[in-house]
Amino acid sequence: MNEKRSNFTGKIGFVLAAAGSAVGLGNIWRFPYLAAKYGGGIFLLVYLVLAVTLGFALMTAEIAIGRKTGLSAIGAFKKLNKKYAFVGLLAAVVPAIILPYYSVIGGWVTKYLFAFVSGNGIEAAADGYFGAFISSTWEPIGWFMMFIGLTALVVLFGVEKGIEKVSKFMMPVLVVLTVAIAAYSVYLDGADGNFEGLKYYLIPDFSHFSATTVLAAMGQLFYSMSLAMGIMITYGSYMKKDVNLESSVTNIEIFDTGIAFFAGLMIIPAVFAVSGSDADVAKGPTLMFAVLPNVFKSMGTVGQFVGAAFFILVLFAALTSSISLMETVVSIISDKFNLNRKKSCLVVFIGAVLVGLPSTLGYGPWAGVTIIGMQFLDFFDFISNNVLMPIVAFFTCVFVGFVIKPKTVIEEVKISSNFRREKLFVFVIKYAAPVCIVLILISSVLDALSNVIPALKMFSI
Ligand code: TRP
Repeated sequence: MNEKRSNFTGKIGFVLAAAGSAVGLGNIWRFPYLAAKYGGGIFLLVYLVLAVTLGFALMTAEIAIGRKTGLSAIGAFKKLNKKYAFVGLLAAVVPAIILPYYSVIGGWVTKYLFAFVSGNGIEAAADGYFGAFISSTWEPIGWFMMFIGLTALVVLFGVEKGIEKVSKFMMPVLVVLTVAIAAYSVYLDGADGNFEGLKYYLIPDFSHFSATTVLAAMGQLFYSMSLAMGIMITYGSYMKKDVNLESSVTNIEIFDTGIAFFAGLMIIPAVFAVSGSDADVAKGPTLMFAVLPNVFKSMGTVGQFVGAAFFILVLFAALTSSISLMETVVSIISDKFNLNRKKSCLVVFIGAVLVGLPSTLGYGPWAGVTIIGMQFLDFFDFISNNVLMPIVAFFTCVFVGFVIKPKTVIEEVKISSNFRREKLFVFVIKYAAPVCIVLILISSVLDALSNVIPALKMFSI
């Protein structure tokens, strides 16, 4: 961490690298199922509003903090104010919680890729195929181990540069394919003439609005843009002083949100087209796997190839993300405990496997075991995205708004350009964001707890 920081060559390099971290399973797997579950259009609307306010302010603050201090999260907070070092530490816990269950989903993607490559893609569309896979004991564990093993190998032997090069080519292809499949899904949805799924996704229905919708959208925003976990601070620390910070933030946001939007357009209309009703919209984490093979099946023989291509691209997007997640955890462990890279890599690998196992078993033989009414995978997801990240985000806002003061960030932004949304930034970071985060967090944690303590229900909004 102490060696001289290498810099991204310019704005394009920076935006692509940060967008590479941001774009992953969060956009393609997580966004569509949340949007489907939380009312479609209303979720999309809340998400977009949050992205241009909260997302914009937090990303600007994090990148500026990183660029100003030249350090990653733990060091950066400490350098600016010793008392707030705990925020950096708290942020560092998040990737460690995400990595194991991220790899479980990565394993599911790998399984589907193999199904399509080996010519069994069409079978994967059959009712009950995914259920049978997920409820078996060893198969999901095997794919999970394979995915996380691959991630660990790359982190250990450091072929990230190679992977990065490949994904620079694959990412644009993924974008094109996603848009094309989205168009096809919308076409399927419209086959009966009324575009039910498209309407569900695009037209907000305010009766679906609740505090949980906002919390879910906020958690998704943090997750998808890799915010509130110190990652963007690290990226900022590599950013050159003359690169336009504000417009870089805008570009990353447009990129990330655009891909999530098209992934939703690819999956949600297809839900309605495939099952003829919205019966499947609340499927949760399994939605993508239950729906997409049906879309490929309806393409006929071509579908086999399109499916294989699609899953290999998603696998790459997932791998680049899991590699940087693991890399983050490994570097923290090796700094903290003075372990060499090999040892800390091994520690993280074993830890992640152990923590990941309940998440895979939770959808199978352990389906009966729940924590506050959630399966393990959903629980880890909830704790990291809907509890820890809002807490980190809250303290980041307080820190920037009242401790180092917004001017610290504003001055950093102004080194490279003028700050067009300066007023919006100050208002959001000082008042709007902290107040909203606290209200939403309390209300929805009570809501989750009311699964176990029914009396708490009266407090939720
Ligand atoms: N943003 C990534 C996605 O959308 C997931 C992610 C969260 C991530 N935290 C990260 C990726 C840290 C890399 C590093 O899938």
